[in-house]
Amino acid sequence: MNPTINTSLKVILLSGNPGTGKTSLANRLKKKGTYEIIHIGDIVISEHLYKETDEERDTKIVDAEKLNTYLMDYLKDKTGTFICESHYTDLILHSAVKMAIILRVKPEIIINRLKLRNYSAEKIRENAEAEFLGDCTSFMLEREELYRSNRIFEIDATNLSLDILTEIVDKIIKYPDNSAEYLAGRISWLSNDSVNINNFI
Ligand SMILES: Nc1ncnc2c1ncn2[C@@H]1O[C@H](COP(=O)(O)OP(=O)(O)OP(=O)(O)O)[C@@H](O)[C@H]1O
Ligand SMILES: [Mg+2]
Repeated sequence: MNPTINTSLKVILLSGNPGTGKTSLANRLKKKGTYEIIHIGDIVISEHLYKETDEERDTKIVDAEKLNTYLMDYLKDKTGTFICESHYTDLILHSAVKMAIILRVKPEIIINRLKLRNYSAEKIRENAEAEFLGDCTSFMLEREELYRSNRIFEIDATNLSLDILTEIVDKIIKYPDNSAEYLAGRISWLSNDSVNINNFI
């Protein structure tokens, strides 16, 4: 944790399963000119903030301690609002973290998007199941300090254009106390009869 309190620095965690649109949204938010974006996945690779490579799953196992040490140093003299985007931003423990926003997209749409990336069937299934169960939200809800202060938000982005999504997220960041309709815990695909992941993969 950062020992010095820098009140002019805000960190926003943007999470969501692979394919939910985090990077696309972050790039739109950057155009507003009031946000800095940190693409955590890129930094983990370029700064070697991982423990190992899981060859079978074709993914890096992030080293949370190294990631937090890196961010603490990177943000130490910074001011402004930084949006950290990746599907594991729940690991970011910086003391300037003010809120978390999780993107949710119906599993069948995630499957289509990941197919377009030519992901393996195994990887698509793993990600679709994680979205179906709401893993990113569950992990974030373990952040007691954010949960207790009503600072974990979740958006069903399935049918939202990036333009609309950008405006919604911008509003949540600016007016969290007026954004109760987006508080996490209200979105579930479990009752969605149309979803049988096996039908889509
Ligand atoms: N709101 C949206 N409406 C329609 N398509 C979208 C929307 N947001 C993103 N997409 C499309 O979905 C795909 C995945 O988007 P993106 O790469 O931003 O996801 P991501 O969450 O960053 O994924 P990853 O975690 O793998 O990096 C892209 O093809 C993008 O164009
Ligand atoms: Mg991305």
